[in-house]
Amino acid sequence: MVQKTIRLAKPEFSQTLYKSLQSLLEEGYLVQGKNVKSFEEALSECLNGTYAIAVSSGTAALHLALLSLGIGAGDEVILPAYSFAATVNVVRVSGAIPIFVDIEERNFCIDVLKVESVITDKTVAIMPVHEFGSMTKMTTLMQIANKYQLRVVEDAACALGSEYKEKPAGTFGDIGCFSFHPRKIITTGEGGALVTTDPQIAEDLRRLRSHGSLGGANNENFILAGLNYRMPEIQALLGIDQLKELHHFINVRKKQAALYNEGLKQLEWLELPLPNDDIKHTYQSYQIVVKNGKRDRLREFLRSKGVECNNGAQFLPELGYLKRDEVCYRKQFPNAWKAYSQGLVIPIGHHINEEDVAYVINAIKEFNG
Ligand SMILES: Cc1ncc(COP(=O)(O)O)c(C=O)c1O
Repeated sequence: MVQKTIRLAKPEFSQTLYKSLQSLLEEGYLVQGKNVKSFEEALSECLNGTYAIAVSSGTAALHLALLSLGIGAGDEVILPAYSFAATVNVVRVSGAIPIFVDIEERNFCIDVLKVESVITDKTVAIMPVHEFGSMTKMTTLMQIANKYQLRVVEDAACALGSEYKEKPAGTFGDIGCFSFHPRKIITTGEGGALVTTDPQIAEDLRRLRSHGSLGGANNENFILAGLNYRMPEIQALLGIDQLKELHHFINVRKKQAALYNEGLKQLEWLELPLPNDDIKHTYQSYQIVVKNGKRDRLREFLRSKGVECNNGAQFLPELGYLKRDEVCYRKQFPNAWKAYSQGLVIPIGHHINEEDVAYVINAIKEFNG
């Protein structure tokens, strides 16, 4: 019998996209142009009319966000101890100092109650991460930021379509950053975007993504020292196609998350995700926490049954290049350490159906260590 394979993620595109791609290739205009503009307009519409700036990846978006706000050497930036490496990498690449805060145990996002105690006179920004499509209590976080006049850059890489108190992720802070990597809610292959309500920041971001110029090759057009983080036209076409399905994709994920919640709730050796009240969770990832110390064994068992699964995000304070042998941060950030050392992400998304979800649930129940 052929082994079933249930992938963690697999993008699907419409038939009309193939036609648009063909026309684009025939026209031969591949560098950022009218399709990127249309994609940005569609994103802006989804996100309460904010300015939207498409870029080449979520990491590029985060990097540009810090650059545009002038965050650099000696500045302290507060971020959760648990996230994908890109969140802290961009802080370090900018020359700033990352200051970690623990996460909420089953919500995997920064614990806002612990933020105020790490603010110093060097703190310039907070970077909440909307991990796995969930969110922290953003109203409280914004109150803290306002009290201390801090910038807020939302790492909303995983959270297109998520909401806190009906306000979209990415629209609370100075800048929101999204990723369109294939594991995200919508994908452009690789890609990202920034959103902001500030017209000056929007203009700076547009310049910074394209060598510091908004167009024209005269010396005087290069107003900022920028990079090339532009999104190509091919990617924008993928994004336009995917964005039309955003609500459908989210609804499918929410239904599957409910099935996992129901199907796995009796297993006392598992801890299931528990978002805060007031959050519309989009379940970009569904992470279970394996409490019996057998996470790696479960991962290999599921893989042997054809179920793709991965450890979730990283424990940032001990990330390869940041790790200092003499310091152990695990006790300082226990929830982040637990999520990192015991978390397992299982398949979710429109590429699988309810039968597949049932298969994964049964495979987990079959596991006996
Ligand atoms: C929380 C978080 N931030 C940033 C990124 C970086 O996005 P990209 O892979 O598009 O560069 C990711 C991607 O996995 C992520 O999960």
